[in-house]
Amino acid sequence: MTSTYSLRAASPAKTRVDAVVVGVVSGDKGPHLCTAGADVAEAYGRKLRPLLSTLGVKGKAGEVAKVPTNGTINSPLLVLVGLGADESDTAAVRRAAGVAARSIPNAASVALALPASTPEEAAAVLTGHRLGAYTYDRYKSAKPEAGDPGTVVVLSAEARRNEMEEAFSAAQVLADAVIATRDWVNTPPADLTPPAFAEAVAEAHGALTKGRGAPEVAIEVFDHEQLAEMDCGGILSVGDSSDAPARLVRLEWAPADAVGHVALVGKGITFDSGGLSIKPSSSMTGMKGDMAGAAAVVQATFAIARLGLPVRVTTYAPMAENMVSGTATRPGDVVTIRGGRTVEIANTDAEGRMILADAMVLAAEDEPDVLVDIATLTGHLQLALGDRVGAVLGSDDVVADVIAAGRVGGEAHWPMPIPEEMAERITSSKVADLLQHDWVRWGGGLYAAAFLREFTAGLPWAHLDIAGKEINSGGAYGHVVPGATGFGVATLVEFVRRFVESRSEV
Ligand code: BES
Ligand code: ZN
Ligand code: MN
Repeated sequence: MTSTYSLRAASPAKTRVDAVVVGVVSGDKGPHLCTAGADVAEAYGRKLRPLLSTLGVKGKAGEVAKVPTNGTINSPLLVLVGLGADESDTAAVRRAAGVAARSIPNAASVALALPASTPEEAAAVLTGHRLGAYTYDRYKSAKPEAGDPGTVVVLSAEARRNEMEEAFSAAQVLADAVIATRDWVNTPPADLTPPAFAEAVAEAHGALTKGRGAPEVAIEVFDHEQLAEMDCGGILSVGDSSDAPARLVRLEWAPADAVGHVALVGKGITFDSGGLSIKPSSSMTGMKGDMAGAAAVVQATFAIARLGLPVRVTTYAPMAENMVSGTATRPGDVVTIRGGRTVEIANTDAEGRMILADAMVLAAEDEPDVLVDIATLTGHLQLALGDRVGAVLGSDDVVADVIAAGRVGGEAHWPMPIPEEMAERITSSKVADLLQHDWVRWGGGLYAAAFLREFTAGLPWAHLDIAGKEINSGGAYGHVVPGATGFGVATLVEFVRRFVESRSEV
């Protein structure tokens, strides 16, 4: 069921919908309704405090309580969601909207009285609700009843301001991109082989660019033969292990008023068995998500184009399946990356850096101002930072910009170093220019980043290692549901938006 969303300046007490959602703040003097729910608090008057107390509502994040209103307000159901201590915390607003979405999945009409007085907050309510309501049921025989599309009204006293509507529709674009990313990452790997993935991107591109006034994004899809002609030995060294051949998708958004040029590269391993250096079974679960970086850069690019951001974006999504076969790359093989650098393969499970190397060389050839790559690259950095915080490595200022962008987008990233000794380790091959992997267990995520740096042509660069962040293998929290998360899309779009802003100031 796809809902329609609108932004309106209306009273939550007077609005007539199936359910009204109101945020609860955990104040020093006990919980209270957020400012947006003031007239609901007024309607309940003195009855509110004892009601909250009986319900055990404290205003903590993640908390939710449903109350039949019996005519106290115009809607029959009141849903209270916790916001935590600070009602101006946009991330908490986004999470609460997500919790609210899941608590009343069958309401045909909902009004949200959550903090939404600034454009950022209104955007957070919208994305939080849409992403929190996300489900993936393509392969379920019993699908939820396809009733009439629901309506969701985001209440805001500032609804009539232009910037509010603008932020609201920009948030729709972002939510679309995250949802499309989740759909791709959730797709079973047999149905999203490299050719199928490239085809899905081409189809989405077709829909995006169709019709008058649609954004003009260029797309190129390179197949096995073309990749061979382009000397993309890294992509082919992985892709040739599979019956499903490799692809490389290149997108370009180049508006006439571009203030600069950003290159995006995303890892698109549609399934990672480890190759001949095969993974243990338990590590292979979830490896359909190893294309999450590619999905994120593609959807971020489409979102940037839809938003009409005045910046040139060139995006590379190398796609390959890492399988076990008679044509698989062996440890000990030497592979030549585009541009001529040779790499000694030590572990065929370190396949991400091989496909990224070619793609980054290509990206650098376009001479962008900054290069950002995103990849489910190493379990090492998942072990270090867990499954909700991404690692960022590379040029200090770009790393800082990524972290700041993530904060706005509601995604956490943490800086990790590329220590000097890594340069020695990656060049320690006795037969080739670079050693792909050295079997030293320590700092494997930093080694991988040092390896990738070799292919950046010295450009300002950030590498986002999002291993473990692409799929939520636990329960739902906030706007993040079980399964694919769409991690990285919000950060990339915000990163590019801020890049434009920084260039426009001078
Ligand atoms: N796709 C994996 C990394 C990964 C791990 C993604 C966990 C998502 C969740 C990657 O290709 C891989 O196998 N990395 C190796 C690197 C090693 C061989 C240097 C790893 O993590 O062990
Ligand atoms: Zn992988
Ligand atoms: Mn691997």
